[in-house]
Amino acid sequence: MILAVIGSGGREHSICKKISESPKVSKIYCIPGNAGTNEIAENIEIDLNNFKKIKNFLIKSKVDLVVIGPEKPLVNGIVDFLEKEKIKVFGPKKISSQLEGSKIFTKEICKKYNIPTANFTIFENIEDTFKFLKSSNFPIVVKADGLASGKGVYICENLNDASEAIKEIFGGKFGESKNVLIEEFLKGDEMSFFVICDGKNFQKFQTAQDHKRVFEGDKGKNTGGMGAYSPSGLINFNLEKKIIDKIITPTLKAIKDLGENYKGFLYAGLMIKDNEPYLVEYNVRMGDPECQTILPLLKTDFLEIINSCCDENLNNLKIEWKDQKSLCVVVCSKGYPEKFQNNIKINNLKKINLDKNDYIFHAGTKKNNGDIFSNGGRVLNFVTISSSYKESRNNILRLINNLNWSNGFFRKDIGFKVIDK
Ligand code: AMP
Ligand code: GLY
Repeated sequence: MILAVIGSGGREHSICKKISESPKVSKIYCIPGNAGTNEIAENIEIDLNNFKKIKNFLIKSKVDLVVIGPEKPLVNGIVDFLEKEKIKVFGPKKISSQLEGSKIFTKEICKKYNIPTANFTIFENIEDTFKFLKSSNFPIVVKADGLASGKGVYICENLNDASEAIKEIFGGKFGESKNVLIEEFLKGDEMSFFVICDGKNFQKFQTAQDHKRVFEGDKGKNTGGMGAYSPSGLINFNLEKKIIDKIITPTLKAIKDLGENYKGFLYAGLMIKDNEPYLVEYNVRMGDPECQTILPLLKTDFLEIINSCCDENLNNLKIEWKDQKSLCVVVCSKGYPEKFQNNIKINNLKKINLDKNDYIFHAGTKKNNGDIFSNGGRVLNFVTISSSYKESRNNILRLINNLNWSNGFFRKDIGFKVIDK
């Protein structure tokens, strides 16, 4: 089969890698890809907003199946667009993708279907929001409604923080924002819970724990994710049943009630308190860096899983996992998630000796004259799978030590809740 993977991050590099292990694959294209995907796939430079150009390329290159990595093309309806052209594509359609594209859409489903989540209020202007905040208890959570690459969420300790947040959101920091959400602050431990759906049925995929804050000890600003480990230390049979019964099943029913069938990965960002799950947010794709953390644990042929989803045949497949612990540390450009410099040469990458249980997935990288340069905030993902989270982390820190990149920084404490307790 000829495959195309859409996206350019660590997630897409890990997807290309896993797909390339399938004996059924003859060729992979990655649109647009990065310096890492280029090693296993052919990178094709097309603007991801240009669906027509993507479609023309897929038809011309006789691509059999397309996997969509990032949220933006999903939310903008790439699946609907390609399916109309009879192209086989893995990912949810535009209506389903509102689960990630609009926090208000998701909150309204939660209300209607009794899905446990933080209490919330929606505001349309700065004055009403401010009035409400003046009589609120803190901490409180302020959110922009639309897509914001994980950065449109403010955990506010006081009125001052909150008014800065609403000024930024209504001021257009995340594009035109007509609405702001004010949410109750949920205390607890976070978990990323993934299911994969074929439109009729779904199966549990994996769990992971992401570290979203930029600094060690889970401090500082929210990022796209500084590292992760899988499986999550919180998951147990009882909790899994509650997540499926109280959160996943009613959500898929809600989508069905809207006249659509959910196809693709569904990622529930959860807060767990006293073994009870609360939905923090939905994403309509794999997580990044959760994907690069999880996929090395997968035993079943990934292409077969995706293909059976597209064919509404997932029920006949058993998804199997290695009984190991995976951990991922993201190496970022200094300054991320705020301003950072691109185009800084990364030395020694090729000299790092990887064992069969070690992986380096590229994110913001590009190749120039045989050398690798940084090209984004999150740049490299180091992943190891082993019999313990601690061994995985120690190994990764040892590997990163061999990297010579003056502009990089990373968190050394990924997994602290399961390692340093
Ligand atoms: P989101 O983009 O909605 O997942 O939010 C990003 C991060 O902000 C989450 O992973 C949580 O760490 C935090 N967060 C969001 N909403 C809440 C909430 N209601 N209570 C506590 N933390 C939250
Ligand atoms: N790691 C968080 C996300 O992918 O949204």
